[in-house]
Amino acid sequence: MTIPAAEKTPETKKQEALADFARFVNPQKARVLKNAGLDIIEDRREGAMVWDITGEAYIDCITSAGSFNVGRRNPVIVQALKEALDRYDLGGFLLCSKQKADLARKLAEITPGDLQFVMFGAGGGEANDFAIKLARGFTFKTDIISTVKAYHGHTGFSLAAIGRDAYKQPFFPMVPGFSQVPFNDLDAMAAAITEKTAAILIEPVQGEGGIHVATDGYLKGLRELCDAHEVLLIFDEIQTGFGRTGKMFCADHSGVVPDIMTVAKSLGGALYPISATIYREELNDFVMAHPFTHLSTFGGSDLGCIVGSAVIDYLRDNQVPEHAAAMGDRFQAGFDRLSDKYPDLLMEVRRKGLMMGLQFTNDSIGPRMSYQLAQRGVMAIYTGNEPSVMRLMPVLEISPEQVDAVVEALDGSMAAVMEQGGIEAY
Ligand SMILES: Cc1ncc(COP(=O)(O)O)c(C=O)c1O
Repeated sequence: MTIPAAEKTPETKKQEALADFARFVNPQKARVLKNAGLDIIEDRREGAMVWDITGEAYIDCITSAGSFNVGRRNPVIVQALKEALDRYDLGGFLLCSKQKADLARKLAEITPGDLQFVMFGAGGGEANDFAIKLARGFTFKTDIISTVKAYHGHTGFSLAAIGRDAYKQPFFPMVPGFSQVPFNDLDAMAAAITEKTAAILIEPVQGEGGIHVATDGYLKGLRELCDAHEVLLIFDEIQTGFGRTGKMFCADHSGVVPDIMTVAKSLGGALYPISATIYREELNDFVMAHPFTHLSTFGGSDLGCIVGSAVIDYLRDNQVPEHAAAMGDRFQAGFDRLSDKYPDLLMEVRRKGLMMGLQFTNDSIGPRMSYQLAQRGVMAIYTGNEPSVMRLMPVLEISPEQVDAVVEALDGSMAAVMEQGGIEAY
């Protein structure tokens, strides 16, 4: 017998959604998420919070890996999109557009140094693909060096640059000309550069790789290597951008200016997909010669650009990066207490602003912590390339009380993991 929709309980609706997801989308993903206690069907979303369809509340510390910096359904950004929808649509991608021009000007204003020209896209992988195309096209060289455990997206060139074979192996052969060296190891990078090297591609903080923070000295050293060998430096700020690390861009901490920077995720305000590749004026020689070299129907749509501009205004007007820095420090005080209390479990804390990673003793602990945290009202997930690391990336305007609640949930979760037999249990 079929139950009429109006009579279904929230729990029934949830189980139906999960069953349909498993049947028509991805059964294995559904299983993995269930095991990690993350079989959540998001319903209401607001600020730092999300509510499961059954009404369970969670502090969102996943935020689609840093895509919701301005918060979930931020009313200012929602209003900007609503007004845009009353008047505009995607816009013709072949035409010049005021919305594109406005957002490009703002990106040039807020990105470091002399980064100026912008190529728009719809996602982060696409932004990196164009960065690599630009590097090859401009330098007439082929090779791209990235880092072990790096994550740059699952599209063509970006996939080749990823530092994890599991993502690539089923699709070998990859685009040739890509290699990876250990992160934060300047000597390894220097040794890998040849006369064929077009660019070094780097995340200033590796996200999926397990929240590994590049030292200022490393980034400065990369800049020097690039200048010495006429190699371009590309910063992938797709996770680290727009206030996540306590400054507008992670590059602002070290003062190192890359030749190309890629952004995506939070530029879309958790509402509309958009990405951008921003590059120095000199590199525009290549685009002048090939003005239609990267066409993207949905890239930099008028609606996306309006949202992106609203996001930048919001971050600047409300000093959101500064708030993120302060909340990151508040988290750190809690992490210090937890490190003292659970020395066998919590090996290390790695953090820049609100890009935070807790290094646990082994790979089983990431999923177990996700499960325990979900039981305590916190949605958090271990990193893709390093499951022993719990990544915490809440919205940037998380309140001090919510920070304390996450720390308390971590404390309870670690206690529960230890009670289950600690690091030996699995
Ligand atoms: C550092 C980094 N680069 C690139 C990407 C790919 O972005 P997208 O999923 O929008 O293609 C991601 C996504 O998580 C990322 O974290």
